[in-house]
Amino acid sequence: MSGVKKQPVIVLDGPAGAGKSSIGREAACRLGLPFLDTGAIYRAITFFMLRDGIAAAESPELAERLREFTVSFRNGTVFACGEDVTEAIRSPGIDKKVSSYSALPMVREFLLGIQRDAIAGGLVAEGRDMGTVVFPDADVKIFLTAAPETRARRRYDERIARGESVDYGEILEQVNRRDTLDRSRDVAPLKPALDAVVLDTTDLSFDEVLENVLEYAARL
Ligand code: DC
Repeated sequence: MSGVKKQPVIVLDGPAGAGKSSIGREAACRLGLPFLDTGAIYRAITFFMLRDGIAAAESPELAERLREFTVSFRNGTVFACGEDVTEAIRSPGIDKKVSSYSALPMVREFLLGIQRDAIAGGLVAEGRDMGTVVFPDADVKIFLTAAPETRARRRYDERIARGESVDYGEILEQVNRRDTLDRSRDVAPLKPALDAVVLDTTDLSFDEVLENVLEYAARL
């Protein structure tokens, strides 16, 4: 897009189901930038810890497993420790546990370097603490939000489209539970950066949200 400076860092933060991934991915594509899905990284760590029976608490075992952890993205596929975990990290089991592992300072500290290493050449990054902690000097900071019912409905529609059998009430409860945990943790809680634009997408279509994000990027 003309007008966007070289190597911009554009970050999207917000609660579950606010549209960060879908909007971020499309915005990155339109702007010719890489997309960093940090939620997928926290999910991948959760997947490995659960599989290895390592509890969500700071421990020498957790530290050792973290040292072995690697993550990479290729054409929409997520590889963790060389294994394709794209589908596995979206399971309801991971949804339930990911906030507990994400709240651990040891996990967040470890991931800081991995996330910052992705910045060369600019990027669009999505998460919970992109604008507040990981990329505090980002050029554009947008906090996407929407009513919990709307966010739960979007997650419900995504899962139905994938052929899963899901219950809307359960998804709503889980979205609320996860947001409460993510907002109330001590380290890097979910909140808008002081210099972020807060965009409520409750009554906006995908294209309208995308247009807003691209407009902010074009101001660079
Ligand atoms: O965006 P998501 O639903 O894939 O994120 C999964 C969880 O990962 C979310 O509930 C909290 C955690 N997370 C985080 O703590 N910090 C980030 N930057 C990204 C995700």
